[in-house]
Amino acid sequence: MGRVQISPSILSADFARLSAEVAVIADAADWVHVDVMDNHFVPNLTLGLPVVEALLKSSPLPIDCHLMIEQPDRWAPHYAEAGAGSVTFHVEAAQAPIRLARNLRAAGARAGMALKPATPIEPYLDLLPELDMLLVMTVEPGFGGQPFLEAVLPKIRRAKAAIGDLDLWLQVDGGVTAETIERCAEAGADNFVAGSAVYGADDPAAAVAALRAAAERARA
Ligand code: DX5
Ligand code: ZN
Repeated sequence: MGRVQISPSILSADFARLSAEVAVIADAADWVHVDVMDNHFVPNLTLGLPVVEALLKSSPLPIDCHLMIEQPDRWAPHYAEAGAGSVTFHVEAAQAPIRLARNLRAAGARAGMALKPATPIEPYLDLLPELDMLLVMTVEPGFGGQPFLEAVLPKIRRAKAAIGDLDLWLQVDGGVTAETIERCAEAGADNFVAGSAVYGADDPAAAVAALRAAAERARA
């Protein structure tokens, strides 16, 4: 199991001051999680490649792109080519997930694959060696601030068991708070996305530290 990593989601940050919002968590976090939504794969619209390119120039942290978009086979490699450290596509939208993961790695990014809450892991077990990260969504993708779905915990455990000794991070995203992060860590997650729990706090950097401490405690 990898070390605990925290990836705050700027979905809950002030979009008019993104570089300042990233700077606030720069010393506390491992990644900055950027939620790209196209109003087709999910019923919400956020930002796309031009904003990610601008963030890449100003961010002291590597960028973890979570693409909630249709046609990721076509669009995701551009985020890798732009310099995102990690690019995650949704398997529900991908035409050829193995080819796409290989294209992301060839473009220099870590390849991530995401599953919505009701998407089972079992059909994809043979793909795991092609990936650097598996994202198990713990809310329906589309919006920040939703309650954590306890029903996903068994899938996190099954994913953890399937990963075994593979060098592959297990990320959770959605409703992750100082309270729910412990259950995620116990189930086997090692990379934690948190939006409202970080940017809704008075001190976002302290919130990141508290999340990390809670996850590490749960694993000890
Ligand atoms: C939801 C996004 C999440 C979101 C999480 O579709 O993928 O990254 O920002 O927000 P919280 O942590 O508030 O659930
Ligand atoms: Zn996300």
